[in-house]
Amino acid sequence: MFKINQNYLKLQGSYLFSTIGKKVRTYKEENPDKNVISLGIGDVTLPLAPSIISALHRATDEMAAKETFKGYSPDLGYEFLRSAIAKHDYEARGVQIAIDEIFISDGAKSDSGNIGDIFAEDNKIAVCDPVYPVYVDTNVMAGRTGEFDSTTGKWSNVIYMPCSKDNNFVPMLPKETPDIIYLCFPNNPTGSAITKNELQKWVDYANEKGAVIIYDAAYEAYISEDDCPHTIYECDGAKKCAIELRSFSKNAGFTGTRLGFTVVPKELISDGVPLNNLWARRHGTKFNGAPYIIQAAGAAVYSPEGIAQTREQIDYYMNNARVIRDGLLEAGYQVSGGVNAPYIWLQTPNGMTSWEFFDHLLQNASVVGTPGSGFGPSGEGYFRLTAFGTYENTLEALRRIKNL
Ligand SMILES: Cc1ncc(COP(=O)(O)O)c(C=O)c1O
Repeated sequence: MFKINQNYLKLQGSYLFSTIGKKVRTYKEENPDKNVISLGIGDVTLPLAPSIISALHRATDEMAAKETFKGYSPDLGYEFLRSAIAKHDYEARGVQIAIDEIFISDGAKSDSGNIGDIFAEDNKIAVCDPVYPVYVDTNVMAGRTGEFDSTTGKWSNVIYMPCSKDNNFVPMLPKETPDIIYLCFPNNPTGSAITKNELQKWVDYANEKGAVIIYDAAYEAYISEDDCPHTIYECDGAKKCAIELRSFSKNAGFTGTRLGFTVVPKELISDGVPLNNLWARRHGTKFNGAPYIIQAAGAAVYSPEGIAQTREQIDYYMNNARVIRDGLLEAGYQVSGGVNAPYIWLQTPNGMTSWEFFDHLLQNASVVGTPGSGFGPSGEGYFRLTAFGTYENTLEALRRIKNL
């Protein structure tokens, strides 16, 4: 008789966004005259930039002619895209990444989940708390996390690295030694960034302990401060201990179009085996490539027009972030994020729990955000607002919040 992967039964229900959805639906039914503004979702709202749309059209037309039609794409992705990435994302920052260290994918979510395939089951993982839930859930599926304790909200075999205002939302090196460390900067959900000096400490620590860092840089394009690294490979020795995940979702609006990449340096070796070989094998066996049309659109992100147009979009969102941040500060909230990331992380007022504040904001301001406790136990007492809405809605939401 066939057996299922029992680890799936251990997964905790993802109640966060479904509970939010239910509460918002009920509120709208009871208050049909209210204009509800959502600053809750982490999805972009601006359309793809004109140069990207043109590239999509051109590539689509190529698929219509025998001479230019493309079938399966190369395993690692098209060279035109990988060389644009190597040049613009790395060489321009003084980092040499070879094009066969870059693996094109359909996004950072898939890669952050799939990367676990190349690691043994008995590795111990360390995650920030709060955290982007995919890192934990995919390790639950792989059987690495032990048992869930519903009183603490923690897995028995996971090292949690609390991020709070006491450490400026950058975790301390853990007391217990992990094998795999997940870091995400700029961070979802806290909106915090890490300086190059701070990240160097993590790289040194990983190299000393023989740990690997999975570095999620999906929000790299939002960095505005000079001392924050755009890639972990700006740190000395990072090629020996770090895998970097990148996405076209937030820098260029590809959330619905799907494109990302992972960098696995050849210097990253375990027991004489380069991880690059393992990931190449995994990629070639289980993935048949992002569509040519989408990779062509991805290359357009690096054209002079693409760079200028996507910069304008990021600036638009970051102007919203400024409106949210300044508005909340004016209203007396304790706020972080919103400077190097499209997320603003606020402390709930008057000792309210994250969900109490959610209800308070929905009922009294018709504004939707995301309760921090949904991202992990240390998120309790915090709340996330995103800068991905329209400018007009963002202004209006903050006007209402200030009037609370
Ligand atoms: C930290 C982080 N990593 C990865 C992703 C997913 O990126 P993609 O759209 O490329 O799958 C998200 C999406 O919200 C994210 O917040």
